[in-house]
Amino acid sequence: MARVFVTGSADGLGLMVGSLLVEHGHAVVLHARSEARAEDTQAALPQAEAVLIGDVSTLAAMRAVAGQANDRGRFDAVIHNVGLGYQEPRRVETVDGLSQLWAVNVLAPYVLTALMHKPDRLVYLSSGMHLGGDPSLNDPQWTARRWNGSRAYSDTKLHDMLLAFGVARRWPDVSSNAVSPGWVATRMGGPGAPDDLDQAHRTQAWLAVSDDAAAQGSGGYYYHQRPADVHPAVRDPGLQDRLLDYCRDVSGIALA
Ligand SMILES: NC(=O)c1ccc[n+]([C@@H]2O[C@H](COP(=O)([O-])OP(=O)(O)OC[C@H]3O[C@@H](n4cnc5c(N)ncnc54)[C@H](OP(=O)(O)O)[C@@H]3O)[C@@H](O)[C@H]2O)c1
Repeated sequence: MARVFVTGSADGLGLMVGSLLVEHGHAVVLHARSEARAEDTQAALPQAEAVLIGDVSTLAAMRAVAGQANDRGRFDAVIHNVGLGYQEPRRVETVDGLSQLWAVNVLAPYVLTALMHKPDRLVYLSSGMHLGGDPSLNDPQWTARRWNGSRAYSDTKLHDMLLAFGVARRWPDVSSNAVSPGWVATRMGGPGAPDDLDQAHRTQAWLAVSDDAAAQGSGGYYYHQRPADVHPAVRDPGLQDRLLDYCRDVSGIALA
């Protein structure tokens, strides 16, 4: 039995993977943005060990959630699932002066990775849309370009890939992988999403807890438990370091 923490798990794929892991006898800690959403989450999955609370669009809440997680001891696996979608109509700026989409999708997983006790396995939710992301890292906050929600989302999912692959390289003792769940009909995916919702959470669970040799590798990107196409820039150690260093500079938190 493993202990697994899943971020952004009040709904959608996070709640689905939490439920699947509980069904298979694992201990699961979930995460919601507020007290009210935590109550909903606990009601949706009463077997969850706990629901951590914090709106991780702010640095203060990212730190607070990492603190709550560490108070509960070390996890065997962490699934960095929290995310905003590809249809944000405008650039929202957080109290930290960051793009909210980037803060939730990229900085939150970075800060939690850096501050939490090291688990054995890390899983980052990316997307096939990362292939359309801008690998230049010239404008991660979208201050220089006219807002395009879909392209801004693609950038964040490319950054998540750089995070997963960069951590895999820097931490050889931890298995760090990324996942594409497919385009599926969660609240984010929308009702017309064409891919198989029943498959969308299984690869994350497999990477988090399976004894299969393939699931215990590191520096991979999977769709339906099979390797998927990776943007070539993601394998560039220099670019991985630039993303990690940028996250460090923005947050003031270094990756050990
Ligand atoms: N669905 C797809 O087709 C698809 C495709 C590729 C990748 N993905 C990735 O899969 C992951 C999960 O997506 P999903 O489809 O399950 O999305 P979803 O249905 O919108 O669920 C996202 C969850 O994250 C929570 N959340 C969002 N912002 C938060 C914040 N600031 N603080 C705390 N919690 C927050 C939401 O809380 P509330 O419920 O309170 O809003 C919700 O529970 C994301 O990383 C996404 O990029 C999804």
